[in-house]
Amino acid sequence: MTITLRASAAAPLRGRGSVPGDKSLSHRALMLAALTVGTSRITGLLTGEDVLATAAALRALGVDLRVDEDGEAVVQGVGVGGLAEPDRPLDLGNAGTGARLLLGLLAGHPFTSFMTGDDSLRQRPMQRVIAPLEMMGARFLARSGGRLPLAITGSTELLPIRYQQPVPSAQVKSAVLLAGLHAAGATTVVEPAPSRDHTERLLRHLGAELQIEPQPDGGVAITIQGQPELRAQDFAVPADPSSAAFPLVAAALVEGSALSLPGIGVNPLRTGLVDCLREMGAELALDNARELGGEPVADLRIRASRLVGITVPAERAPSMIDEYPILAVAAACAHGRTHLAGLAELKVKESDRLAAIAEGLAACGVAVELGADSLTITGCGGPPPGGAVLAARHDHRIAMSFLVLGSCAQAPVTVTGAETIASSFPGFAPLLNGLGARIETIG
Ligand code: S3P
Repeated sequence: MTITLRASAAAPLRGRGSVPGDKSLSHRALMLAALTVGTSRITGLLTGEDVLATAAALRALGVDLRVDEDGEAVVQGVGVGGLAEPDRPLDLGNAGTGARLLLGLLAGHPFTSFMTGDDSLRQRPMQRVIAPLEMMGARFLARSGGRLPLAITGSTELLPIRYQQPVPSAQVKSAVLLAGLHAAGATTVVEPAPSRDHTERLLRHLGAELQIEPQPDGGVAITIQGQPELRAQDFAVPADPSSAAFPLVAAALVEGSALSLPGIGVNPLRTGLVDCLREMGAELALDNARELGGEPVADLRIRASRLVGITVPAERAPSMIDEYPILAVAAACAHGRTHLAGLAELKVKESDRLAAIAEGLAACGVAVELGADSLTITGCGGPPPGGAVLAARHDHRIAMSFLVLGSCAQAPVTVTGAETIASSFPGFAPLLNGLGARIETIG
């Protein structure tokens, strides 16, 4: 079913917004609980389509697992190496994290699995996980460019390797670590710059042995000892900072807003957007800092304020890789120019986000210069013109970002293909509308 949403100028956003569970952690919690011995109860799980696709794939691999609508899951672990051959293709939908991490798990199992995904996922590069997993001994048959659909045949005799990642990617790092979990001996992944460390934290929480060593060049080497017995644990998933980013920026931009967003994950490898918004002049506070499920969380509090353009260095990209579309919306409304550098990875997300941001902003009357891996946005110093009809391009974050732009613009913004929002943020429009936004379904 296709859905078209239209966002018109919002009233001030006020109150408390309850953001759904973290997508990255929800995929990992299900997959790792499946590899433990015993029963795990997970609360706060995201029940978006991406995570449900991972749950369905695990069931097809023989895992007894129940997910309730309210985000409670019960998983009966099968132990490391205990997955069973699936009798159907694994369809990961829109979920890049689900697909890539699962390939790491499948590499350690001696059977053949077939994997596919939606129109977006079938275009995304899988070679970046195929290369290290082949070095370890898994075999692949994939479409040109290492794209889905593909077949993977794993092995019970994976070789532990030392793998230097060419690009910082938490998904690639996690796929190698999950394969390393099945190999006899120590597997090391070296990332050129630190990326989100949810897999490492969760593996330790479940009893795996990991060494984490910062490198002289700013990178980090992570070593996992293979074939541990993981203990089932109950686990609470914090709210997703990448989803919180949408109401957060909307409140920063709509005059008179004052919003609080409780229990948001603030892992320092995810908080680049918080740093940017503060540099732009946002009145943003992190209250009540605490830990949940081995991850730092806090209540975010924001008030609308005058924002100014900034330069965002390329080194910040790993800590806010999914937040550039919504940061671009903040930049479009700010005073002055914002320069965003180091954006090459945006081209291989759910859509080519570099192009989607540039074309969407231009259609909304915002001056934008597109570089090879950069964007320069001239802020309107207030509500941008808006008034565009944009396609979501199978990209939830593009859809939500331009609906936030419409909420702050002079004329409404319409987004077609907005059903994709359900992959990460079911209830996005009702939540924002409950706080003061005007996002209507028009088809
Ligand atoms: C994710 C890592 C990032 C991010 C994605 C989720 C993860 O991708 O864009 O939405 O959960 O590990 P890359 O690893 O490709 O940078």
